[in-house]
Amino acid sequence: MPRLGRRSLLAGSALALMAADTVPALNARAKRRGLFFGSALSDDTLANDPMATARVDAECGMVVGEASYKWADIHPAPQTYDFSRADALLSFANSHAIRTRGHTLVWHEGNPDWLEPTLNAGNAENILTDHVRTVVGHFKGKLVHWDVANEVIDPDDKQPLKLRRTLWQRALGPAYLDIAFHTTAETDPGALRVLNDFGTDYTLAWQERKRVALLELLADMLRRGVPVQAVGLQGHLDAGEITLDQNVMAKFVADIASMGLKVIVTELDVRDQRLPADISVRDDAVAAHARAWLDAVLASPAVLGVLTWGMSDRHSWLNDKFPRPDRLTQRPLPLDVGLNRKKLWSAIAASIDSAPIRTAMR
Ligand code: G3I
Repeated sequence: MPRLGRRSLLAGSALALMAADTVPALNARAKRRGLFFGSALSDDTLANDPMATARVDAECGMVVGEASYKWADIHPAPQTYDFSRADALLSFANSHAIRTRGHTLVWHEGNPDWLEPTLNAGNAENILTDHVRTVVGHFKGKLVHWDVANEVIDPDDKQPLKLRRTLWQRALGPAYLDIAFHTTAETDPGALRVLNDFGTDYTLAWQERKRVALLELLADMLRRGVPVQAVGLQGHLDAGEITLDQNVMAKFVADIASMGLKVIVTELDVRDQRLPADISVRDDAVAAHARAWLDAVLASPAVLGVLTWGMSDRHSWLNDKFPRPDRLTQRPLPLDVGLNRKKLWSAIAASIDSAPIRTAMR
């Protein structure tokens, strides 16, 4: 928790809640354009920060568990499933008429300690199929999307189809994607099946290689009849990055849409680790950067909606993974630590307001 007194935080939060009622919230604006707006919600925030959770309720029409739908939380031992945290998020969402998306069924992180040492070519298909059938079956009819597979591409690993070298790829090759997507489709045909990835946002050479690899993988999957329906663009942006090209981003999204696939912005946040300490400078740069990227993405009617990876600066993975040299708390999300709307909130609102209207899908 950043260095602010509890009294000022509570006062700020109360004022923020009052102010929030007068200006249409992000999801209200998104619905006018046929979009949705949502955010990730951590177990800790849901359980221990009612003011922050109330702002998620006020601003969002969709939530995703920051960790609660992953193997580590849901499948803590080979024969043990624990849905308590995932069910708590779903219960919160349902009681506030908010939709929930599942994240994620296959990834190389967020796994319990028992998984990797156990997995081999002989048991991987059964372990994966059992997990997907059990988890997707538990939530059947209750989740709008599943991020079936997460972060599967890495051309630098030099593997077939430019897949990332992971525990699943080593055990099953590219077939692990077929197994995960087909099993999800069989178990809950109503949940949109999403392939989610990061690092496709800038003209950096490695990101251009990822964009090409992702498009090639999607084409191969569709050719083989793998039932992928949408692509999740995580959108973990860096306001210090100068290689954002709106035309490149818009073409990438259009190329995905040309395959008949939908697109979701699944984890938007904007790190300011390479920016000066001055809050006004950081907030201006973060807002302008997000606006430019989001305008390029939302230009496509194939985009279903936008989720941020958290709603307020009270909690962001970025402070651990990409800490600022001065160790100041980063300001990557729409609300500040006092739960006040920031320039980033206004930039997201403006991008949504100016997005072409599309038929709301999911
Ligand atoms: O819930 C336990 C808690 O009981 C325990 O006391 C604590 C200390 O061990 O750990 C808690 O679990 C942590 C979990 O977050 C919930 O806070 C895990 O250790 C920790 O690894 C997990 O980190 C998450 C990470 O994914 C791995 O699942 C981050 O919060 C989350 O922001 C991050 O999100 C990923 C997306 O899924 C994919 N895209 C990138 C993004 C950022 O890395």
